[in-house]
Amino acid sequence: MNNRFYLAPFQGITDAIYRVSYHKYFGGFDKYFAPYISGTGDVKVAKSKLKDVWPEYNIDTPTIPQFLSKDANEVLLLLEAFSALGYTEANWNLGCPFQKVAGKKRGSGLLPYADEIKSILHQVKDKGIPIDLSIKMRTGYKTDRDIFPLLDVFEEFDISEIIIHPRTGIQLYKGLASADVFEECLSKTTHSLGWNGDIVDLKSFNTLSQRFPNIYLWMIGRGALSHPGLALWLKDPNLYNHEDFKEKIFNFTKDIYDATLTRTQGINQVIDRMKPIWLYLSRSFSDPNAAFRRIRKTTEAREYLLAVEETLKNEILLRPDELNS
Ligand SMILES: Cc1cc2nc3c(=O)[nH]c(=O)nc-3n(C[C@H](O)[C@H](O)[C@H](O)COP(=O)(O)O)c2cc1C
Repeated sequence: MNNRFYLAPFQGITDAIYRVSYHKYFGGFDKYFAPYISGTGDVKVAKSKLKDVWPEYNIDTPTIPQFLSKDANEVLLLLEAFSALGYTEANWNLGCPFQKVAGKKRGSGLLPYADEIKSILHQVKDKGIPIDLSIKMRTGYKTDRDIFPLLDVFEEFDISEIIIHPRTGIQLYKGLASADVFEECLSKTTHSLGWNGDIVDLKSFNTLSQRFPNIYLWMIGRGALSHPGLALWLKDPNLYNHEDFKEKIFNFTKDIYDATLTRTQGINQVIDRMKPIWLYLSRSFSDPNAAFRRIRKTTEAREYLLAVEETLKNEILLRPDELNS
């Protein structure tokens, strides 16, 4: 089976503007997961809450909406809302590790409660909403054993894909994603599993794909935010063209800049939005500090645009096969 690549969601970074521009200039991904949308209790989900996944903002981009919830009614309302927008898949976030989320038993905080997850799935699946449910999860909250009773629960339900980021919630991003725990999961499920975590270059991908020859779903986050040519290269190196890649980065960031400017209050907000994007992108240059330094200091539009031009003119952009973790 051919590998399929998914762009991981990043709250605050990979909004619709980012995803659409990414797909337009770089591609390489089969699905673009939107950052999570939280449930709103028993109240019908307001249209404005769904703005990031409005079809008119996601044109030509294979977008998957994601939600965060610990309540069956809420999940039903979200699935109905996504389905009404025309989506055929929605992704349940069972991975968010941050205290303000996990502390309220949501995201990775719900993972220790297999019975509650089972009850939610029963109530949701009974309603037969015409939308596939996929799951993105960590291996547990405090312990990576949480996942095993959950895989048993999932066997009872129709779940289109399960993407596992094999870290615990309390681990945040420390340590390595555990290939050993992922391997244990493989033998405990009949669902399609995907890997997420620490694919940042060819070496990290090759190590995983050799170890898991039957896995063909790969979700990439930070590595793809850093080098937007990585997924395309992994798909087929011949699709990647280094000659025009800097120009693509220029156009990509310019589109985000322009589109953000039309949707936000002021230039400061736009520049603040561009900086984390550039912080990631700078890692695909031979000298990441030099690549980010000029942009980091800017506060005005003209200064920012000049810094981008200077960076692209003076700094050396690496090809995906030159990245080295
Ligand atoms: C700032 C930030 C925001 C994130 N937002 C989300 C989110 O909304 N939904 C989600 O499922 N994961 C979110 N993640 C996790 C990433 O999607 C991904 O699972 C994680 O970075 C591990 O993959 P990677 O090693 O390929 O980056 C976020 C991570 C970061 C650092």
